[in-house]
Amino acid sequence: MSVSVIVGSQWGDEGKGKIVDLLSQSADIVARYQGGANAGHTIVIDDKKYILHLIPSGILNNGVICVIGNGVVIDPVALMSEIEMLKQHGIDVKDRLLISHKAHLIMPYHKMLDQARESLTSSTTIGTTGRGIGPAYIDKARRAGIRIVDLLDRKSFEDKLRKNIIEQNDILNKIYGFTELNEEEIVETYIKFDNLIDEYITDTSYYLNTAIKADKNIIVEGAQGALLDVDHGTYPFVTSSNPTSGGACTGLGIPPTSIGKIIGITKAYCTRVGNGPFPTELNDETGEQLRAIGAEFGATTGRPRRCGWLDLFALRYSVQINGISSIAMTKLDVLNDFETIKVCTGYNVNGKSLRSFPVDIPTLEAIELEYIEFDGWKQSLSGITEYDKLPKQAQQYLSFIEKYTEANVEYISTSPDRKDTIIRA
Ligand code: GDP
Ligand code: IMO
Ligand code: MG
Repeated sequence: MSVSVIVGSQWGDEGKGKIVDLLSQSADIVARYQGGANAGHTIVIDDKKYILHLIPSGILNNGVICVIGNGVVIDPVALMSEIEMLKQHGIDVKDRLLISHKAHLIMPYHKMLDQARESLTSSTTIGTTGRGIGPAYIDKARRAGIRIVDLLDRKSFEDKLRKNIIEQNDILNKIYGFTELNEEEIVETYIKFDNLIDEYITDTSYYLNTAIKADKNIIVEGAQGALLDVDHGTYPFVTSSNPTSGGACTGLGIPPTSIGKIIGITKAYCTRVGNGPFPTELNDETGEQLRAIGAEFGATTGRPRRCGWLDLFALRYSVQINGISSIAMTKLDVLNDFETIKVCTGYNVNGKSLRSFPVDIPTLEAIELEYIEFDGWKQSLSGITEYDKLPKQAQQYLSFIEKYTEANVEYISTSPDRKDTIIRA
């Protein structure tokens, strides 16, 4: 089967960008299926760093076609600045970028509404990226969204846009007390995107299904992570799309039967940005140490990421709902200096161990955790290219993860750079 899906197995920022870039070296196509410019996927090649938000992480490999699928919400301003950023690095996306005509657009009022809702501090403030993601998916679901295809018919695009601006300005002003957005300015700016992105627009579902028939090697790239999934994550502290592997089919218009492999990108510990439950979070010196060594600051917003030990109970849930057979373990090097390393192996409520991952916040906040401890390896992993050459303690850590989750650790990443990755046969 020619389609491999890459998913984040935790709360995002697992290192999807690095692994997708690496695997793209032997791919024909890389396709994104959900989310938008809330994502920040980092790729480092020979000390040169690239952060991608909308364009798939295969773009740095010449000859790879990159697809932005129908499930993605596209901010045309963010897209144009990313195309420009790549151009300045000598990468031309011409003839290599395809955008689904069914994808929805993020408009200035979506970003403003996102920020307005977040400005009301309450116990359910999510701590979004402020990129308009939630409001854009709300418009999609309430059937008022504006799609890429609408750009092609100027008159109808303008009518829809004006109607939405008037309606959303009312909400912004009357409910949130925000200044109304300038209707003429928005129409004038957004009408121009037709000319700018016309060359990339196509029926990407048809394109991908034809490629699947021709047995092309296709990598499907998820954004965010399973625990931020709107259905399966720590709701309401989630994003507004389905980062889990099932989202790949609806977000690209490809059948479930075309998917051959699902790889879960997993950090050797856990991080989370924004609010919401994080059972293994460390609000102490160890947490600070993980943040400092792992350089845990958001690639999109620059916010410090919350840090904690690896939560295997949550990871096993993620493996189950995604169908992950292979794990790519990233940032193992961040644990190099720790004397001991802990992992969470169970959740208890009132002295009873839970069988499945809890769905409600009060339970998630009341759980007691079971941990087991591993000896650290206390040495650098730099230059190690074979699994057998890893320190014994690191192998023990990885073996335990495999046994607990019933998934193989197939890739091990030991630095941000593409070249520092162990690939097991
Ligand atoms: P993504 O959103 O899943 O693509 O992940 P991000 O790019 O937001 O965050 C991952 C961060 O970890 C980036 O700064 C990467 O350069 C970095 N990174 C990826 N793999 C490794 C690794 O194995 N070791 C270290 N030290 N850093 C890594
Ligand atoms: P990548 O693809 C980590 C988080 C936000 C917030 C919640 C909802 O780089 O892994 P949103 O703006 O989506 O409405 O915010 O989800 N979040 C991410 N956290 N990595 C991401 O993407 C994220 N995208 C959104 O911090 O808690
Ligand atoms: Mg990220």
